[in-house]
Parts: sequence; C-alpha cells; structure tokens
Amino acid sequence: MAKDFDAMEDSNRSRNPSIHEVSDPARRLWVGGGLAALAGGVLAPWLAGCASGPGGPLLGFKGIPASAADAITVPEGYVAEVIAPWGEPVGVPGAMPAWREDASNSAADQALQMGMHHDGIHFYPFDGSSTRGLLAMNHEYVDDGLLHPDGLKTWSAEKVRKAQAAHGVAVIEVEFRDGRWQIARPSRFARRFTAFTPFAVQGPAAGHALMKTAADPEGRTVLGTLNNCASGMTPWGTYLSGEENWAFYFDGGDTPDADQKRWGLRKTGFYRWAEHDERFDARKHPNEFHRFGWVVEIDPMDPTSTPIKRTALGRAAHEGAWVAVTKDGRAVVYSGEDARFEYIYKFVSRDRIAPGGAKANRELLDHGTLYVARFDADGTGRWLPLVHGQGPLTAANGFADQGEVVIKSRQASDLLGATKMDRPEWLAIDQNRREVYCTLTNNSARGAKDMPGVDAANPRANNVMGQIIRWTEDGDFDGLAMRWSHLVLAGDPANERPEAKGNIRGDIFACPDGLMLDARGVLWIQTDAHATQMNKGELVRIGNNQMLACDRTTGEIRRFLTGPVNCEITGATLTPDGRTMFINVQHPGETPSDRSDPAEPNKFSKWPFGGRPRSATVVIRRRDGGPIGT
Ligand code: FEO
Ligand code: CA
Ligand code: CA
Repeated sequence: MAKDFDAMEDSNRSRNPSIHEVSDPARRLWVGGGLAALAGGVLAPWLAGCASGPGGPLLGFKGIPASAADAITVPEGYVAEVIAPWGEPVGVPGAMPAWREDASNSAADQALQMGMHHDGIHFYPFDGSSTRGLLAMNHEYVDDGLLHPDGLKTWSAEKVRKAQAAHGVAVIEVEFRDGRWQIARPSRFARRFTAFTPFAVQGPAAGHALMKTAADPEGRTVLGTLNNCASGMTPWGTYLSGEENWAFYFDGGDTPDADQKRWGLRKTGFYRWAEHDERFDARKHPNEFHRFGWVVEIDPMDPTSTPIKRTALGRAAHEGAWVAVTKDGRAVVYSGEDARFEYIYKFVSRDRIAPGGAKANRELLDHGTLYVARFDADGTGRWLPLVHGQGPLTAANGFADQGEVVIKSRQASDLLGATKMDRPEWLAIDQNRREVYCTLTNNSARGAKDMPGVDAANPRANNVMGQIIRWTEDGDFDGLAMRWSHLVLAGDPANERPEAKGNIRGDIFACPDGLMLDARGVLWIQTDAHATQMNKGELVRIGNNQMLACDRTTGEIRRFLTGPVNCEITGATLTPDGRTMFINVQHPGETPSDRSDPAEPNKFSKWPFGGRPRSATVVIRRRDGGPIGT
C-alpha cells in the first residue's frame, strides 16, 4: 500500500549507515559472476539431482513475453482460472451473502466474504491431499473508491466498518472437483479475521503498560489485524501473517512525539477511520498505535482457535514471517519490514519445535532471542541481539524492559547500527543449504538529498528496480554471522542510467516482492511495480507485474506469468504433488493515487470478469496435469 513514491513511509533518520563504506557491489553479485562460489559449494543432493536428473531441466516451460494486456497470461500448455475473488462468500454455514456488482454489500456481508486486495496465501492439505484442503490468505488493504458505490463521497461508521471487514485474513476450503478447483461451501473451516476480530497478545509486550488502552486495560486483547501482507507456514502447521504499514490507519494530529514520528504516524490517516472509530485517533488512544505491527499466528485447521499477536518477533512494518529450523529443532523466524530504510530481523526460539502440531507449540514463538541484521561491506554480516540490558538497550536509553525493546524495535535497531535496507519484502529459505533470500523491492529515495546514500547491500541510488539479496548463515540458522551476496539486481539493460540496467540473466523484471522456493529448488519471483511506474519511463519494456522462475544453479530467470493492468502478483503456494499452484492477483486497475474514482471503476481494468476490478486467487495447472514449472 501507498507504493506511490511520494506517499511512501520513510521515517528512519537514525545516523547508523556510516559503517557501510561503498564498495564494488559487483564482487558480491552471485548471478552476475559469483557462480564459481556456488559450484564449489556443497549442493543439496535433491537440488543437484533435480537440475540434471531424469525430470529434465529445472525450468521446463517456454517463457512468455512481457505484456500490457488486461489479462493473465501463462505459458503454452498451462491454464489459469480465477477462484475466490473479493466479495465471494467464504462459506460460513448459513451465512453466505452473495456478491453485489454495484458494491452495495453491507459491512456485515463483507465480514462473511473474501476481503479486498488478496496477498500472501498458503495451501493446507487435508491429510496430504493435493485435491482438497484449506487456503489461508491475507487481505492487505482496501480501495474505498471500489469498495463503496460512491467511494468516499459520503463517509459513515458503516463504511468504516465495511473497510475494516474487508481487511485481514480469510480461510476457505477448496477442492478439485469435476475437473476444476472451487470453493467448497459451506465449510466448518470457513473463517474471516478482520480489523475487529479479537486477537490475543503473547510474548514480552503482552500486558505491557504501552499496550494498555481504555478498552483493554489488561493490554492482552487487540481488536483486529491490519495491512496483512505476506504469509508463511510454520512447520507445526499454522499460518504467519505480517502486519505491514499500519501507521497509515491512524490520525496523529499536529504534534506527534518522537516515537510516533519514528513509526511514520501522520497528521491524518489515509483511510479516514478515526472519523468514526476513535481508537484510530492516536491523540485520544496513543497506545492503540503500539498494538499493530506484529506478526500474527493463526491455526487454520482449528476453526475455534484464537489468533495470536507474537510480540517476541518484534514490532515492525512486517511484510511477513518465514520459518527455518536449526539442526536441534528450534524455530528461526525471518522477517523484514517493507518501508524505505528499515531492517531485516530474525528470531531464534528458545525451545525446540514439539511434535503434536499447533497445540503443542502454542508458546514456542513467545520465548527466544530477536536479532537485527547488519550487512557489512566485505560481504559478511552480523546478527545483532535486541535484548534488554545488552549493549545500548538499557533504561537509560529509553528501554525499560524487553517489552519496550520489542515495541520500539526500530529505535533499538537504530542504536545497534543495523543496515537500512531498500524495502525488505518476502523471504524464502533453503533449509538444506542454510540460505535465505530476501526481495528488496525498490527505494527511489536512496541517495536522494538528505537521505541515506548507497551501501554495499543497497548499491544503487534512486533504486526504482530493486534487488534480491541472499545470505548463508555461519554454522546453523541461529548463527550470529553470515555471508551475503546479491542473487540479482533487477532492471532493464536497455536503460541508459547504469542504476536501472540491472544484471538479470534472462527475462527482465522490476520491483521483486513475492518469493517462493519450491520443493524442486525453483525460486519463484513475483513483482510489484506501482501504477505510477508501470509500463513507463525506465520500466517501459518490463510490462505488467509478473511472476518469473529462477534456476539458481544457472542463474537463469524466465517469465512464467503476466498479470492484468496495474495489478501486483503476490503469494504463491503449491499442492503437495506440485501440480496445482495458487497465486493472488492484487489490486487490478490500481490507480496512481491508490484510490479509484467510483464513477469510473473500470478506468484501468475490468479483470477478472469484465466488471468492477476484483483481486482474486488464480489457480494454475498444466493441461496434461504435470508438475508446475517442469
Ligand atoms: Fe504489502 Fe510489502 O507489500
Ligand atoms: Ca508485498
Ligand atoms: Ca509490495
């Protein structure tokens, strides 16, 4: 959200980038010349096998050209079908209000329907099935110009409630029946989590003085989750969802304090919720602002379970969270914050993952150590502990306890000298190689006047293209040191400006956002260039947002899918047999201002059904039923 460069959040004025001297970034470009290091390393047997084994080449599909069409395009031999668009009833028994094309569904209807702006998604099979299971997915934000018949022309408590109901997370049951995937309705698993669903707070911020409000004097129950962006599945079967740029929902007034400024609180929120729901007025309820920005954990398989905000993982503009496992069975949760010049984190659990699924691991993410990343110019990096009492994180510096450290993770990271990144979004983990990949979408403010300059990890000024960074942990995933390099710098070699050329080997793209590493070792990359950038300027040849596949052994990147006009492609998940892929198409027809004109809802897109543009889940299969990508 607010991906328009002019509206974007960039509140980091800390003085910590100076430790990063500018150095030759080409030394650390993996795809661009560092392949020898990979070839000399130990390849995971399953990965080495699939690159040359009986299954044929890793990328077996014919790449497709860039596209500006208002349609989904997939390679020859593939089919893409829409399921679960915004407004479809999720399937709560006895409560399945039908979608109304004129946007006249009520707030109560919306709370029982798919939310707006689908994002991260994960498939949870029933007993390992590849034809039946649950999809859990995020609904990041709303376009009020499409959500209400007259947009923001009139404004009411009912409209705010409808916008809140269109946020959050959906769980739906899906099945492959009669030759196609469809929502199985009604279903006892069908569920919506919205901006007013009660969430339990756990971890060091639970019950903290900074979390207490008039409505929740205990500081242990928060209504709602907001701006849920990316998602990850835990080894114990739950769903992790990141609360991303929540600051845009609050009104801050004229005199925000230093803490509020550091978190990007503005005079008025973009969504105008405070006008009818005063908990979003940070002048009246300053602590409500602390109760968002967490990773939330949901158990989709237990429809009676209470969702939880996991505060031990730190507060941030969390894109999402992804779990690796140490050799001795502890969970390591990686996470970045999608804001310019913010940070990358990891959390190492104190305890081992217990057998027994979600219930046996109910407190696993409440105890452990949080770290923030520093990427040094020599290609090494350090994980700096965000632990109260260690280093500068003391009461004298404004951190009374560990609760305050996690609530003020940004300020703590500033003091530790963490590296300011170019909008960290999705991460993907190669458990076998101990490697982690992270998309850095873009940062047009890098190197601008009075803004941080380039550094080794973020090597391009006016970075409109983005890059993918990767690192290998020293020892195990809980290691305090790592070695990093760039997998690829996105761009178009036909551009004049050196910073916009990139070093892609294969099909060009910009603004990497979604990432998924599949079981065969293919790294799937999804893109999110904003409507203000797409198909113009330095991105004129790149086409609509898209999904590509990367063969990490050869470095080749090949275009697999292109999306409709002004959408972003985000979230990818496969059935266990690898033969069905679900992805999400977010905000088709996005306008440069991030808000449509209700009089002209189809100005840019009519996807998917020729009417009002609707975010939707898309199912991709091969016509011959074979594995995706082979
Ligand atoms: Fe919601 Fe970071 O994209
Ligand atoms: Ca994203
Ligand atoms: Ca994005």
